Amino acid sequence: MTSKNKNWEYSPSLEGTGHIKLKKKYDLFINGKWVKSSSKKYFKTINPNDEKLIAEISHANQKDVDLAVNSARKAYDTVWSKMPANERGKYIYRIARIMQERAKELAVIESLDSGKPIREARDIDIPLACNHFFYYAGWADKLDYAFPNRKTKPLGVAGQIIPWNFPLLMAAWKIAPALAAGNTVVLKPAETTSLTALKLAEIIEESGLPAGVVNIITGHGDTGASIVNHPDINKIAFTGSTGVGKIIQKAIAGTDKKATLELGGKSANIIFDDAPLDQAIEGIVNGIFFNQGHVCCAGSRLFVQENIADKVIRKLKHRMKSLVVGNPLDKNTDVGAINSKEQLHIINKYIKLGKKEGAEIYQSECSIPKKGFFCPPTIFTNVAQSSIIVQEEIFGPVLTIQTFRTVDEVIQKANNTPFGLAAGVWTDKGSRIFNLTTKLKAGVVWANTYNKFDPASPFGGYKESGFGREGGMHGLSAYLKLS
Ligand code: NAI
Ligand code: MG
Repeated sequence: MTSKNKNWEYSPSLEGTGHIKLKKKYDLFINGKWVKSSSKKYFKTINPNDEKLIAEISHANQKDVDLAVNSARKAYDTVWSKMPANERGKYIYRIARIMQERAKELAVIESLDSGKPIREARDIDIPLACNHFFYYAGWADKLDYAFPNRKTKPLGVAGQIIPWNFPLLMAAWKIAPALAAGNTVVLKPAETTSLTALKLAEIIEESGLPAGVVNIITGHGDTGASIVNHPDINKIAFTGSTGVGKIIQKAIAGTDKKATLELGGKSANIIFDDAPLDQAIEGIVNGIFFNQGHVCCAGSRLFVQENIADKVIRKLKHRMKSLVVGNPLDKNTDVGAINSKEQLHIINKYIKLGKKEGAEIYQSECSIPKKGFFCPPTIFTNVAQSSIIVQEEIFGPVLTIQTFRTVDEVIQKANNTPFGLAAGVWTDKGSRIFNLTTKLKAGVVWANTYNKFDPASPFGGYKESGFGREGGMHGLSAYLKLS
């Protein structure tokens, strides 16, 4: 799909799909083998760009979950917990290397299955996923250095449930530290984006990792619930909606299962009048339109200092005109497909609601493909702190814009949310950055940038954004008993 702007148009530049290998049907990866679900049920995974079937995916039931947890337990007891740590590290390193070798294939499949632009899958998701394995491979035999004067012990079997916004990256965030710390794993990808996790299972198979150390099973929410409720799971790591996070917390209350929950967000991106404005505009665009706004830490609430508001909004609208919305596999695409019909429905519901609340809407005048699930980049001005579109997570390319006059005012407004995952601050003044980073109740605060990730730096939230940290040494400690 080409972008139809009044003044210019790009020729299509589609990434090829000839080199990728996909099966028509995928079974479950349990105990190092591909096994059929005893449910005998399969569900479809489709391409959100054209709504065409890509493959059929096995729907694991309680019996399959039992099998997967038992195989993880056996691998933990007999192999993984006994293996010298440096040997463990070698396996993790090997997985990273094979992922890197197959990076192009992984990027194309990620883009096909999730709807994210190939440019992002290729330049962000896949390299970062590899880097997580590389990073944690290095820690496997250095746990005593990571936690000096403490004894480290793995937790046992980790149940990991991940969402559809960064499918392979979330699998890497969860599996790599778990293995480095000496745990075994049962992982379930999201139902709309199982393919790269299944490809990772193939890579794990190729790496020769002992059978049962990583089990990858597919299914819907019921499969996830069976993992959460399984009595032989020692730790739950979950990324997804706040609603399911709360269900999980209730389900494990009173058990000795450890948990990390990484949930939703409504993060503030704050622009002061001394900020480098053109850079800040790029930061706003990256903060909310990156990955169609399917980002838990998306900068979905923009706060602009009042005296520059008109200028910033004018520049932002101008920039939005040049964003290319369309086929995710096109290398020119900036904003790809919304992950699912259901998610598009949620986003459209909020857009309607915003108009009903009296907010002023502006949407990019781009052409939208007729098939598939698409939403043009959207901004709302004239919103109140109490507007529902300012308070609730939309998880789409929808930005609300508010103004402020003083530092205290913007801190109060930014913190007035049930969430606390991330924030961005744009200013030339270093002291102001430090003042805000200590007062903003957010797990991550970016200064003069947005949506930057690194395996060495911890990530996680406050309040309804969840608890626990992933990444860095903090992410390692979440998979260890320290004494
Ligand atoms: P979800 O929270 O239902 O799905 C995330 C994962 O949890 C999936 O693998 C799903 O199969 C699993 N799951 C669902 N119900 C479960 C249960 N009872 N027990 C255990 N696992 C369960 O998210 P959904 O419905 O796909 O998206 C709804 C909203 O959630 C979005 O509109 C967005 O606001 C938010 N969301 C936030 C994410 C984040 O990264 N923080 C990621 C995805 C969605
Ligand atoms: Mg899909």
